[in-house]
Amino acid sequence: MFYRGRRLRGTALLREMTRETRLDPQSLVMPYFVEESSREAAPIAAMPGQFRYSVKGLIKTLKEDRTHGVNACLLFGIPKSKDPAGKGAYAKDGVVQTALRRIRDAIPDLCVITDVCLCEYTDHGHCGLLDAKGEVRNDPTLDLLARTALSHAEAGADLIAPSDMMDGRIEAIRKTLDENGFSAVPLISYAVKYASAYYGPFREAAGSSPRFGNRKSYQMDPANRREALREAKADITEGADIIMVKPAGPYLDVIREVRNACDLPLAAYQVSGEYALIKSAGELGRIDEQAVALESLLGIKRAGADIIISYFTRDLLRLNLL
Ligand code: PBG
Ligand code: ZN
Repeated sequence: MFYRGRRLRGTALLREMTRETRLDPQSLVMPYFVEESSREAAPIAAMPGQFRYSVKGLIKTLKEDRTHGVNACLLFGIPKSKDPAGKGAYAKDGVVQTALRRIRDAIPDLCVITDVCLCEYTDHGHCGLLDAKGEVRNDPTLDLLARTALSHAEAGADLIAPSDMMDGRIEAIRKTLDENGFSAVPLISYAVKYASAYYGPFREAAGSSPRFGNRKSYQMDPANRREALREAKADITEGADIIMVKPAGPYLDVIREVRNACDLPLAAYQVSGEYALIKSAGELGRIDEQAVALESLLGIKRAGADIIISYFTRDLLRLNLL
């Protein structure tokens, strides 16, 4: 027994053969920000290496990234103007809808996921409509989210990812898609989304910080683990096809719990703050950025995620590290 144990530890090939978890390019999703703008790409200060692309710039970078092995993208839109009802989110000629049509023409084999939320489009920066006191109105928001999802499906989205955290949104969106002939378009639900400080760089990138208050009334308390299971199960009942946990790194226990309790495919989102921390420490020379990025993703995979959304996807593929 002792001898066999030593051999197993000692042989690189055997270690390779018995490795329990692998990162594969197929399971990674790269997020992109697309902006109504004339500049091809504007760097995002809080997220070194990430850009806000014009539609034209997005098509160009997606074509390149596709040849490097990016299989799937997650699109976020940044409109030219914002208003209280977030009209840009469900406009037929909105920035995401326009980008989708162009992607369908130019790169038909790319899997395109669209984020559905209002906060990038509302002037107050909240994820839904507000009442006179500034509280989010859950039910009237559902209709706008469903309209947004439908406009994305009509423009060619492969998968719809509602990130708003209103109650009942999966059911409302599923119903609207089904009634309009899009029953084949699956929903990847941000079912377990914590009210996290790790979203800071994203909000700078998307200009979507709430003007007042915070998102604690509709996003989850980071202290709660059992609540995650309730949220996941509720979204499955409403018709979610894939469940997501977000952020990923600080919530590996939650990913594992959801993996064990639900049999749907599971996604995890390594969010902007997780990216910025690793990237910044790497730039300062304090850690080996690539090694830490790979280890962080491996940890998320080991915790039970099938799909990982990560801003490192493009770099790791370009450098052939996967
Ligand atoms: C919009 C949305 C956010 C993120 C994804 N969709 C921001 C938020 O909820 O404030 C965060 C993604 C990231 O930090 O990378 N609701
Ligand atoms: Zn939002």
